[in-house]
Amino acid sequence: MRKNIIAGNWKMNTTLPEGLALAKGLEEALKGKTPKCDVIIGVPATHLASIATAIDSSRIGIAAQNCADKEKGAFTGETSAAMIASTGAKYVILGHSERRQYYHETAQTLKTKVNLAISNGLTPIFCIGEVLEERESGRHFAVVDEQVKESLFELSAEDFSKLVIAYEPVWAIGTGKTATADEAQEIHAHIRKTIAGKYGQEIAENCTILYGGSMNAENAKSLVAKPDVDGGLIGGASLSVEKFLPIIESF
Ligand code: PGA
Repeated sequence: MRKNIIAGNWKMNTTLPEGLALAKGLEEALKGKTPKCDVIIGVPATHLASIATAIDSSRIGIAAQNCADKEKGAFTGETSAAMIASTGAKYVILGHSERRQYYHETAQTLKTKVNLAISNGLTPIFCIGEVLEERESGRHFAVVDEQVKESLFELSAEDFSKLVIAYEPVWAIGTGKTATADEAQEIHAHIRKTIAGKYGQEIAENCTILYGGSMNAENAKSLVAKPDVDGGLIGGASLSVEKFLPIIESF
């Protein structure tokens, strides 16, 4: 069964005390509520273990925002998938456009990261999405197909079924500009069709595809109402409980 998910991506924000307070505040706000979606927070690597200890991670899943493309060893400054899994985190965001753009992550590197995440028991939240110029020239369908094929389509059907996809048009991230619900639906349906072409209808139907890019309390309802939009990956609006909670409640 396809899962609905609302995931926060804190990016490089919050000190450890601030992050702990935010995570605990969210847990408190969810007390007594039964959200119609899984709730995840993508926190800085320095916060993973403390937050996993401080909150009930069966209610709020914890995600890292990246992992190394190597298993272990002499790679100063890197954090391996096994290290992340050992903190109690269950997810890892991979292929975010900021990592592709600023840290030059390639489809090949991401393929390795996805494999390492899965083999260490983490669920990758794999981000794809086109830049403005690609959308304006009508290439967005081809761009997302390529991103999915290059990094994911060598996975076995079993492993592919373990991951979550996040469609995040780069022109909508942090810009206040969102895709309309119809635009999101159109490309989500397309991505699902591409998945069906490789792995079959059942696996495609069961794949959770999130929308991301300036999602907020105002636009969340119309986005998640679309049949192929299974939730969201939320940046800015995940940094306060007041803004994040209504998005969780938009289902
Ligand atoms: P935003 O970020 O919600 O601030 O646009 C989304 C993301 O980058 O995941």
